[in-house]
Amino acid sequence: MVSVAWAEGVASPWPEGRVEVHRSLPSTSDRARELALAGAPEGTVVVADAQTAGRGRRGRAWSSPAGQGIWCSLIVRPLLDPEQWPRLVAWASVAVVQAGVPFVSGASVGVKWPNDVLVDGRKAAGMLLEVGRSGGMPFAVVGIGLNVNQEPHHFPAPLRERATSLRAARPGGEPIDRRQVLKALLHRLWTVYEEEAPTRFQGAVDRLRPYSVTLGRRVRVEGDGGAVEGVAVDFTPDGLLQGRDGRGVLQPVSSGDVVAAGREDR
Ligand code: BTN
Repeated sequence: MVSVAWAEGVASPWPEGRVEVHRSLPSTSDRARELALAGAPEGTVVVADAQTAGRGRRGRAWSSPAGQGIWCSLIVRPLLDPEQWPRLVAWASVAVVQAGVPFVSGASVGVKWPNDVLVDGRKAAGMLLEVGRSGGMPFAVVGIGLNVNQEPHHFPAPLRERATSLRAARPGGEPIDRRQVLKALLHRLWTVYEEEAPTRFQGAVDRLRPYSVTLGRRVRVEGDGGAVEGVAVDFTPDGLLQGRDGRGVLQPVSSGDVVAAGREDR
């Protein structure tokens, strides 16, 4: 059933922010972009109980059924140079992990570069960073999809092996109050934002490193321009993936899908 009571009255922790709650939208990120272009302040959040055209990275669809997850998009307006925008993915990933951990005690929670939050090795959340300009000022819309109460059979068949939810990672499988998760998520996003914004998110990647399940592995990264293979050694300060192969250090990669693994020494 589509209901918005669970999210109503939740406040944005940003001083000028507010939270707009919808029963259903094509995409919260499209709505947030519309608001940002109209001058909405930093900290504006759009939440929908369901999305009919939820978007993931690289043109993929994001399954966003009613009653089960947190589908939200946040507008921020940090002072960053264009090449520094990916730092925001590190910031958001850290916040999502830290907000989610208390709800799944005992499970392993990590981040698969660039933007997948994994719980017990399966994807529970993803972030979509989109940037734009309004009134000469840049803005970013950070879209977050967090699977909260899905049970395995709720996921479309092709996702079932790779996707999970916070609830599915609980030993007893009890449902989780999405309002509590949304509040924890916004609180954590704000806390880390407030700490990182003055230094242009320089520390975001350092915060991310301990959660990474990508570093130290042999990986194949498939991007729009082709694939590269090597050992994932580190992140650049802007959050690009730095690798090496038998011939030396590889050009840092800014996006793509990590498709292969195997533990190696860093
Ligand atoms: C990914 O892992 O590919 C990113 C998924 C991002 C999904 C969220 S759900 C809220 C926001 N609205 C969208 O259409 N997409 C993002």
